[in-house]
Amino acid sequence: MLDWEQIFATRSSRMRASEIRELLKLLDQPDIISFAGGIPDPALFPDVAFKEAYSDIFSSAQVGAALQYSVSEGYKPLREWIARDVAKIGIDCTPDNVFITSGSQQALDYLGKLFLSPNDTALVTWPTYLGALSAFNAYEPNYDQLSLNGNRTPEAYRDTAAKTGGAVKFAYLSADFSNPTGETIDLAARERLLALADELDIAILEDAAYQHLRYDGEAIPPIMALDIARRGGIENTRTIYSGSFSKTLAPGLRVGFVVAAMPVIRKLVLMKQAADLHSSTINQIAIEHVASRGFDAQVAKIRSVYSKRRDAMLVALDKYMPKNATWTRPEGGMFVWVTLPEGMDGAELLAKSIATEKVAFVPGRAFYADGSNANTLRMSFSCADEAMIDEGIKRLGRLISNAIRAAA
Ligand SMILES: Cc1ncc(COP(=O)(O)O)c(C=O)c1O
Repeated sequence: MLDWEQIFATRSSRMRASEIRELLKLLDQPDIISFAGGIPDPALFPDVAFKEAYSDIFSSAQVGAALQYSVSEGYKPLREWIARDVAKIGIDCTPDNVFITSGSQQALDYLGKLFLSPNDTALVTWPTYLGALSAFNAYEPNYDQLSLNGNRTPEAYRDTAAKTGGAVKFAYLSADFSNPTGETIDLAARERLLALADELDIAILEDAAYQHLRYDGEAIPPIMALDIARRGGIENTRTIYSGSFSKTLAPGLRVGFVVAAMPVIRKLVLMKQAADLHSSTINQIAIEHVASRGFDAQVAKIRSVYSKRRDAMLVALDKYMPKNATWTRPEGGMFVWVTLPEGMDGAELLAKSIATEKVAFVPGRAFYADGSNANTLRMSFSCADEAMIDEGIKRLGRLISNAIRAAA
């Protein structure tokens, strides 16, 4: 056997399978109630609309172009649709400011590649989206905790970055219904972040994967919209906004996008030419076809289903969880974040939970860049119906109450 590790680039050493992924493989058992996957419910996919879209494409003169190579920026009518859609939430831009990616995950990879030299610092919330850490890790950065309550000075961030021999390059976050906590950042914190980014002269990567999934409460303008309002136009902004059709239409087509000032878009286009030339032509056409005919109705449908599941999970947590556990009350998205008493370990609990209660969730530690806070759990309500949610939380509440009692 070759010693591959000797030949691989150093950056590959940070690409590791997590022990959690191993545990989650057990989820294939049919009798498990799973709150683990952060994925859309396939029963809600607009499959009939996609069937019509592909059928229309194949029976029209467009079929040749749909099966052909296409431009790296993305399918123009789709970019026009996105520019109109984001304008509704204050992101005033032209279709040229929109760049199509193969899922918004690809945007995270490209942005990591574009900004991070080894040892540079990426500011991320504690916790943050695990997939963002995986994407950025390949570019060998350090992470520092992004504080949104204004209690760290720009110098504090700069000093920490300098100690590790790099510079702060960007702050990455989800402002609405984040993965993993489900929390939303308030308007004052968004404004504070823009001021901090100005002082540090860094980019803000706003991951808006869950933007359309608001169930209640008042919508808050995206950071990108606030940046455009402050700067008088997108070309002067430092925010880079990424979005996705994965949570609203279907993730299998792999269509996401970036909205940003032209210098950023031009670099992303060059990166795409080098990496995969362009995202799937036919899938971009199909997404545009379905979005332009029924996006709002599809979003209304999934919001109505997910909001009931969110409610069911919050009611069940109130009913079954021990007093010393706390959790978030998300206004949208797919996740509730549970914090258990100090000293408890989510990974140990998951192993027990799968074996004895047949309930799965994701232990929270993986979402922390420093691997801290083992006493946290991510619970997704998107794929279980209300009765399953009640039963699953009942079992989990019992397990956690017993574990707390045993530790006392
Ligand atoms: C916060 C966040 N960003 C990005 C993604 C990537 O999604 P996609 O590549 O399907 O657009 C996900 C997927 O779960 C996510 O939760």
